[in-house]
Amino acid sequence: MTHVFHRDPRNRYPVAVRGDGAYLVDADGKRYLDASGGAAVSCLGHSDRAVIEAIQRQLDVLPYAHTSFFSNEPMERLADVLVERSAGAFGKVYFVSGGSEAIEAALKLARQYFVERGEAQRRYVIARTQSYHGNTLGALAVGGNPARRRQFEPLLIEATHVSPCYAYRGLQPGESEAAYGERLAQELEREIRRLDGDKVMAFVAETVSGATLGAVPPVPGYFRRVREVCDRYGVLLILDEVMCGMGRCGSLFAYERESIVPDLVTVAKGLGAGYQPIGAVLASQKIFDTIVGGSGFFQHGHTYLGHAAACAGALAVQQRLHEGGLLARVASLGALLEKKLRAAFGGHPHVGDIRGRGLFWGIELVAERDSKRPFDPKLRVHAKLKKEALKAGLLCYPMGGTLDGVRGDHVLLAPPFILEEGQMDELVAKLGAALDTVVQTAVAA
Ligand SMILES: Cc1ncc(COP(=O)(O)O)c(C=O)c1O
Repeated sequence: MTHVFHRDPRNRYPVAVRGDGAYLVDADGKRYLDASGGAAVSCLGHSDRAVIEAIQRQLDVLPYAHTSFFSNEPMERLADVLVERSAGAFGKVYFVSGGSEAIEAALKLARQYFVERGEAQRRYVIARTQSYHGNTLGALAVGGNPARRRQFEPLLIEATHVSPCYAYRGLQPGESEAAYGERLAQELEREIRRLDGDKVMAFVAETVSGATLGAVPPVPGYFRRVREVCDRYGVLLILDEVMCGMGRCGSLFAYERESIVPDLVTVAKGLGAGYQPIGAVLASQKIFDTIVGGSGFFQHGHTYLGHAAACAGALAVQQRLHEGGLLARVASLGALLEKKLRAAFGGHPHVGDIRGRGLFWGIELVAERDSKRPFDPKLRVHAKLKKEALKAGLLCYPMGGTLDGVRGDHVLLAPPFILEEGQMDELVAKLGAALDTVVQTAVAA
């Protein structure tokens, strides 16, 4: 009998005891190829010596010093690296311990920025349906997944939602991608105006949609138009790159491909790569200067922000990405993965869409390809796929409710940047076998 309040107490979890490159090993010695990095976390695999030793070295000299008394060296150096790599987009980094905390801090920074500017009426946040920004109350409030929000609705701050950029289902017949992006930007503009324009403080979006939509990149030009609309109404643009950032999509920040810069960007997961829990918000100099030039102090803080060992781990991750050349592998490895996924599943009768960027891929499953009809949610295709893949020794990240929080199934893939071609073949073969087993029973049902 366990005394742990597990995520799903109905489930009996195998016990992970060891990491070995792209694999995790359980207490029975079974090996699992980690094709999703948990939830897009373990970008360097599970046994990177350089990162482990950097953390050990930091623990030997200074594990922790509360940031209300001290700064610490790894935190200063990590901030230098992130700001430098943002090429002038951001001036400051606020460190936290994970993705939800990063979103909370970003929302509060946005709010305080406007209060300091004398625009205290700005209080609304607009986000997108089918988004996921975390499970703390502020993050849940901006998230657009009805199933996750429903029972907590009375506790959530006011946020409204516009359509995501989801070409597979959102693009209308005959509509160009440019026209689709324009239509979505107009929807955002209408929503800002409906909320009286100057009462809106921020628009929050995942640059490449992750957990709840399944690795959906935006159509070209969408974010440029979003940026214009935000600027027109003085609304801050917060991009959530907790999942898609830190190299996952082939560039350190996913927004680099969109020819825009946000006002705030949140990162986590790949920042610590699973070696330490850490997240961060990068803030534009304008936001920082406004707060420092106003009250002088960001009214926020957590006990573990800027944790020295966590920052040392994340700094070593940055070194592996840049000097170690791992970030440079993502684009070519991603192109190879795409090729293999399209070859294996492109003609599959129950695969409706294969989309993604870098080493971040989503496969949307359908009951019928032509009509894009999803499986009956009662069949719980995604849950069965997770179980079947696990049985075969493959960790992937399937999710249900892709279309509207209830209907739709997809599987997310986010393998480590150290993946080898043979392991990629193992991934595709195991996923294919698990998928076939699951859809055969679903179709027979
Ligand atoms: C885009 C995005 N934002 C925020 C979060 C929340 O991060 P955490 O689980 O570290 O709190 C997640 C987690 O999956 C995420 O994918």
